[in-house]
Amino acid sequence: MQGPKVVMYGIGSMGSIITRMIVEKGAIVVGGICRSEDKVGRDVGEIAGIATLGVAASSDAQRVLDATRPDLVVMTIASYMEDVLGPMLMCLERGIDVISLAEEPLYSWNTSPAESARLDATARAHGATLVCTGHQDGYWVSLISTMLGTVHSFTEVRGKSTWNVDSFGPELARDQQVGTTAEEFEAWNATATRPPTFGRVSLHSLAAAAGLTPLKSTTTTTAVLAESPTPCAALDLTVQAGEVLGFTDIDIVETREGPVLMHEMTGKVYVAGESDSNEWTVEGEPTLSLLNSDLPTHLTTCATLVNRIPDVLNAAPGYVTIDQLPRLRYRPLPLAAYID
Ligand SMILES: NC(=O)c1ccc[n+]([C@@H]2O[C@H](COP(=O)([O-])OP(=O)(O)OC[C@H]3O[C@@H](n4cnc5c(N)ncnc54)[C@H](OP(=O)(O)O)[C@@H]3O)[C@@H](O)[C@H]2O)c1
Repeated sequence: MQGPKVVMYGIGSMGSIITRMIVEKGAIVVGGICRSEDKVGRDVGEIAGIATLGVAASSDAQRVLDATRPDLVVMTIASYMEDVLGPMLMCLERGIDVISLAEEPLYSWNTSPAESARLDATARAHGATLVCTGHQDGYWVSLISTMLGTVHSFTEVRGKSTWNVDSFGPELARDQQVGTTAEEFEAWNATATRPPTFGRVSLHSLAAAAGLTPLKSTTTTTAVLAESPTPCAALDLTVQAGEVLGFTDIDIVETREGPVLMHEMTGKVYVAGESDSNEWTVEGEPTLSLLNSDLPTHLTTCATLVNRIPDVLNAAPGYVTIDQLPRLRYRPLPLAAYID
């Protein structure tokens, strides 16, 4: 049985790790879509830091999709609906399934309802499926909704997580406002056009998984400023004392059914001694907690996407959120073994 034919849309930090993982799991990389001129024409495997795959990267997305007609596009280009809507529609209109790390469409029915409906309608019309996943799928939604499945009742869920901007590429580092001045950060934070936080959409996803209806969502965001010059590998610069290393969002979602969902999430450039953590508490009968320390978030992100590939290929057409998918699971065999 042949593995799925995959086009990598975005071959940056995450796209490179995923390329290695899907090749190891038997997928066939038939194309690569990049943006910068220095990647155009280079072998996708070489860009990803693995053996050559005999496939040259191109910046002409439509041409790659039409020439290769893949089963699946793995999209790792951007976080927010405004940046991924066009590329996602381009794939779905061709009847090609898409799996993406884009954070907002993890669950964008509340933050971008019109765009979500358009993605859903386009996917259904062309018999394709769109799923967004990543670290949030496992550590901010699936683990917590499983834990909620072991309580009789609860009033509050509180999450606290940290991740290192330097585990990822420049796209995310720019999103986290790294290297801006405190004044620039406050101006950005005050704009009405600021996109929805990762914490908010993952709480909406958790609410969907737990059968809860969000009524009101609020976010408080605070910059984390450098105390001394701190190197940022993702942007190849040094953040000076007083400049922004990243920020902390505190998201609170009140639900119609009563429970309150909270997530305090810090994404920043680390200083020596810091590591990723993920801590959740459920206040209820009984009160429960879980802690994952020293998480290699970049690897869990990519492995989660790869383990979700059969779910996307097997799902009904449409924009399918993770609450509608089978439980997240390990796939020890080549991916083809799980595809209906
Ligand atoms: N859900 C999660 O758990 C999770 C975790 C990590 C990252 N992410 C998200 O995944 C995205 C990628 O992260 P990363 O760390 O891999 O970032 P990155 O290293 O900056 O890579 C992004 C890549 O996307 C490419 N790209 C951007 N726009 C493009 C376009 N229109 N057409 C073709 N290629 C395009 C860039 O190409 P060039 O190099 O050619 O410019 C770059 O290689 C970010 O938005 C990040 O927030 C999500």
